[in-house]
Amino acid sequence: MSAPGLELSDEALAELRAALDPGHLLVDRELCAGFEHDITGRFGGAACAVARPADTAQVAAVVRICAKRAIPLVPQGGNTGLVGGGVPRGGELVVWLGRLQQLGDVDQVAAQVIVGAGVTLEQLQRHAHAAGLDVGIDHGARAAATICGMAATNAGGGLALRYGTMRAQIAGIEAVLADGSILRRLSGVLKDNAGYDLPALLIGSEGTLAVITAVAVRLVPAHRHRVTALVGLAGMEDALALFATLRQRVGSLVGTDFFDACGLARVRDHRGLRAPFERAWPVYLVIECAADVDPTEELAGAVEESGIALDVAFADDSQGRAKLWAYRELQNESVAAGGVPHKLDVSVRIPDVPRFAAEVRDLIAAFDATAEVILYGHLGDGNVHVNVLGPDPDDARVDVAVLELVARYGGSISAEHGVGIAKREHLHLSRSRAEIDAMQRLKHALDPGDILNPGCVLPAGGSATRPRQSATGG
Ligand code: MLT
Ligand code: ZN
Repeated sequence: MSAPGLELSDEALAELRAALDPGHLLVDRELCAGFEHDITGRFGGAACAVARPADTAQVAAVVRICAKRAIPLVPQGGNTGLVGGGVPRGGELVVWLGRLQQLGDVDQVAAQVIVGAGVTLEQLQRHAHAAGLDVGIDHGARAAATICGMAATNAGGGLALRYGTMRAQIAGIEAVLADGSILRRLSGVLKDNAGYDLPALLIGSEGTLAVITAVAVRLVPAHRHRVTALVGLAGMEDALALFATLRQRVGSLVGTDFFDACGLARVRDHRGLRAPFERAWPVYLVIECAADVDPTEELAGAVEESGIALDVAFADDSQGRAKLWAYRELQNESVAAGGVPHKLDVSVRIPDVPRFAAEVRDLIAAFDATAEVILYGHLGDGNVHVNVLGPDPDDARVDVAVLELVARYGGSISAEHGVGIAKREHLHLSRSRAEIDAMQRLKHALDPGDILNPGCVLPAGGSATRPRQSATGG
């Protein structure tokens, strides 16, 4: 039996079945259930069915059927998204890309590899390591997040400070457009100005302009030495000052993530971890360095000379480094274990992070004095993950207040997770009317039937014409 909302006709079911390998069109409610909700517990709805294509040709065939029959579809990879863009809202066909497992040979000279939509970040990292190279992107959801989902959302993570976001890692793309035609630009040629940069347009379009089926990923050198430091600090101002010193003095710096005392307590509680230091500190910075010459001395010297660190631990072996990173990487799941949080992935200019962090806390306290605010993120690119536990998850006032604050700082309401469903009605806070109009015209030109992830990214109807808020933050 299929889901309420959008019943697929017998003809549509037969065509979809014929386009896929036997058994890979799921209509059974119990089988579909695993694809219908996201990991936050906030977003999701019934799918009319789940299609599991094996390759690009099958994806194209499915999309052609959807175009012909006006069936809305939602592409899904590892389902690690946090803004509701990868799950149905009610009645869509989920196109699950996990079976597109192509993992090409690493081109050692070009330092590139072609990767299918369903390959996870961790699989790609192992593949690159085996070839003596590395991936210039990393984050805590590496075991499940797929490379093409990361391309679709232009994912960031802790290494963006050094290597940029997903867009900077991509040298080519293959994608299925809304009419089922296949756009293939996987040559990996680096200098290529022949017309509009369509791959760049599709990256970050969150499945609304095309279904990404493969990407050519640029790899980075695998440095011989990696060192991680965990530093206890008196506050965000000190974290920023330490970051400024590191940026000037430590050439091997690849990442600087932060978290706060509340987040540490949640992680320790959730995973039963020991405290990193004897005393608790208000803020912690995780610093990552990579180089071919051991960077420990360079890093330790800069941390000591800054005179700011209250406590510090170093690790240069993979187990020790993973232990230090665990305090930061487990924040997301530990917060989620405490309930359905309000989750806002935003960015402001790096020098504004401490003031923004303080204002966000005051703002939420004024709204609900009992709310727990957990801040963590990627200091090196001004990316703050605002997590709030306590206020009713369905009460959007907290979210709106935080996003409006971001707009006053001239920051972005979506740093690295995408707009999804969660923020589409707030897009005007970060994009002008002209920009939103242009996005809507692009969407209409590439997907006139509005079948690709409808309702994701772009605001519904009139809200696109709301004026942009002026930025008053310094
Ligand atoms: C992270 O940096 O941990 C991820 O972006 C997930 C999150 O924001 O919770
Ligand atoms: Zn993040």
